[in-house]
Amino acid sequence: MSFEVAGHSKVGPSGQLPAQLILRRAAPTGFNREMGVTGMAGQGKLRTMISPVVLRRESLSDAGAVEQIVGAAFGADEPMLPTLVRALRPYSRFAAQSPPGSDPLALVAELDGAAVGHVMLTVGHIDAWESMVPVLVLSPLAVLPDHQGAGIGTDLVAGAVELAASTGAPAVFLEGSPTYYGARGFTAAEPLGFRRPSLRIPAPAFQVALLPGYRPWMTGTLVYPAPFWELDCVGLRDRALVQQIEAAG
Ligand SMILES: CC(C)(COP(=O)(O)OP(=O)(O)OC[C@H]1O[C@@H](n2cnc3c(N)ncnc32)[C@H](O)[C@@H]1OP(=O)(O)O)[C@@H](O)C(=O)NCCC(=O)NCCS
Repeated sequence: MSFEVAGHSKVGPSGQLPAQLILRRAAPTGFNREMGVTGMAGQGKLRTMISPVVLRRESLSDAGAVEQIVGAAFGADEPMLPTLVRALRPYSRFAAQSPPGSDPLALVAELDGAAVGHVMLTVGHIDAWESMVPVLVLSPLAVLPDHQGAGIGTDLVAGAVELAASTGAPAVFLEGSPTYYGARGFTAAEPLGFRRPSLRIPAPAFQVALLPGYRPWMTGTLVYPAPFWELDCVGLRDRALVQQIEAAG
């Protein structure tokens, strides 16, 4: 089986995703949202050199850098996120393709050799009538604030879907903005027969990308891996906000 996302690179049979170099588009060197191109102040000309954004599998030695990226991206509003990504790592493996000790099912985005973004997949289950079905959950997704808006998040989502497909998993789920993820291959999950893990996730935010391993009988409630519950990182605690998002569709 091979699978292609949005015309980007292909991955091979289950478990054969290259450890390095799904590579993608180019972004300006040192892009900085406030300053434009970092280091250009006073130079009087546009810097034209570009650097490729490289996606590679997270290795165990990336753990500290990953927590920094996640902490900086989510900021003080969601202080549990670095702890969550650490707690999720043991769940970032899919069946026999990822034995204990292997690299997690997660990608690091590098620009000029520096880690600037990250995405993680962990194993949840669909509680279907026939059996429990292992599926993947995409969370968290994070890009360093100075590098946001340059397409790196888009690359990470596409790479994560490719990585998910390479495992043979039937689907990858997430909770997030339908505008952002809807333009990146995801669709509302409830109309397809899936149920949210929590009513605190606004219905439009509960999304799925079906993969080649999906079969129509695989419907039911999504069960998150334990760390999401243990760290209270599921949905929103603001009931009025959930109702407002659902009313807006
Ligand atoms: C969300 C995030 C990963 C996007 O990464 P990115 O590299 O900036 O994204 P891209 O450059 O590929 O895409 C930029 C687009 O995403 C939109 N966007 C960014 N954050 C968004 C959000 N929280 N909700 C909806 N859209 C968002 C931008 O407005 C921009 O839209 P445009 O293409 O119409 O101009 C990044 O902003 C981030 O790390 N945010 C903090 C952590 C977070 O919220 N993670 C997602 C949790 S579900």
